[in-house]
Amino acid sequence: MTRTAPPTTIAVILAAGLGTRMASGRPKVLHPVAGRPMIGHVLDSLAAAGVARVAAVIGPDMPAVAAAVAPHPTAVQADRLGTAHAVLAAKDEIAAAAADDLLILFGDTPLITPETIARMLAARRAEAAPGIVVLGFEPADPGPYGRLVLDAGGNLQSIVEAKDASEAQRALRLCNSGVMVMDGARALDWLPRIGNANAKGEYYLTDIVAIARADGARAAVVMGDADEVMGVNSRAELAVAEAVAQTRLRARAMAGGATLLDPTTVYLSWDTKLGRDVTVGPNVFFGPGVTIGDNVEIRAFCHIEGAAVASNTVIGPFARLRPGADLAEGVHIGNFVEIKASQLAAGVKVNHLSYVGDSTVGARANIGAGTITCNYDGHVKSRTVIGEDAFIGSNTALVAPVTVGAGAITGAGSAIAKNVAPGALALTRADQREIAGWADRFNQAARAKKAKAKTKKGAD
Ligand code: UD1
Ligand code: CA
Repeated sequence: MTRTAPPTTIAVILAAGLGTRMASGRPKVLHPVAGRPMIGHVLDSLAAAGVARVAAVIGPDMPAVAAAVAPHPTAVQADRLGTAHAVLAAKDEIAAAAADDLLILFGDTPLITPETIARMLAARRAEAAPGIVVLGFEPADPGPYGRLVLDAGGNLQSIVEAKDASEAQRALRLCNSGVMVMDGARALDWLPRIGNANAKGEYYLTDIVAIARADGARAAVVMGDADEVMGVNSRAELAVAEAVAQTRLRARAMAGGATLLDPTTVYLSWDTKLGRDVTVGPNVFFGPGVTIGDNVEIRAFCHIEGAAVASNTVIGPFARLRPGADLAEGVHIGNFVEIKASQLAAGVKVNHLSYVGDSTVGARANIGAGTITCNYDGHVKSRTVIGEDAFIGSNTALVAPVTVGAGAITGAGSAIAKNVAPGALALTRADQREIAGWADRFNQAARAKKAKAKTKKGAD
């Protein structure tokens, strides 16, 4: 037996379409699913399936898509003349790769899994050695999808677009997901033979099946799950894709040891990391970039993004952790508290109605109810530093830049604009005055006045 090198693959992601039905100023493939552009999901699945060589086909006006795809190269399809024309826009990349397999995916089919990509590549290498493998599925409503036409032997004979299909073909349930893998050595021979004599006047990639068959190659179908291969062409379909992604992420979080009290109300991002024995209450939203340690309780109605939360902390209910919130072990964040770009050391408590931004807070410091860091003067942001074991009195305004020393106390209601020495008490409120009996006299006079007015009205 001769030893051969493992087969090589290049993946081409088509993403030049205008996505008109999204009614958006943003390229379709940049619309997010689970907090990340759709095309990012496709790239991630390719990487997980071991496909390292990737090129994307984009429109001439899509620098943001090129940036999202980088460091992978992009090829520009100047005129959008159809999916086959789009693949040929990347012909230089395809030729340069000289790969055994050419894998085609769509940027608007974000839920494709690494397992399915691997199954498709494996099917190409099966004994029957099909020249083309197409990922098929059976959607509830085949509607506008291309139909897969099988021959008597169950092999793929051709793909017919819905607009060009006969009534009998339109009745077929087996549809084209758009994902296919073909013989890399023959692809650039087959692709230029595709014409555009069809209902849309486009160069359909789907025609490659009949061309390959005529050339003596076999074509096969691998089945995919309808949820996984759904294409996103509208906002309504984007919402369906989001729901599928959320179902997957919730299942992953629970399998990893988190309790979601009401899973369907918890929204996760593609990169949300929850530790073991984390409990998440109802109606919690995780934006991108969140890491939560072990034994953390996140109570109902929290909004968390770009935050790192260490173990044994308690968050919420009704708390907001914004990007750069960095909470050490045992921190307690209570209701109606917002934390932004701040490091809170172990055991810090911010339990009620506070804003802590651009701050460093030392271990065990207690931030009283209603404390506000005044970090912005309308021009620049400044930092607040609070030392270990400091006690910030309720309703303190900390006017940054300012430092409160370790173990210091600020009096309730103070506006602290100057540094406070360690161990000191700082307070800025006015002295309290007291006038004996004033309230009693005031109330008696007011009641007497009201009674007199009533008597007069009765006499009229
Ligand atoms: C395509 C398939 C259809 C399949 C469906 C699955 C063809 C001819 N049809 O139809 O069989 O059931 O996907 O979702 O392939 N694109 C370009 N340049 C172009 C045209 C398209 O880059 O000139 C890209 C789009 O950005 C998109 C993908 O190719 O990511 C698919 O194009 P789209 O117009 O959405 O194809 P469908 O009509 O959905
Ligand atoms: Ca589509």
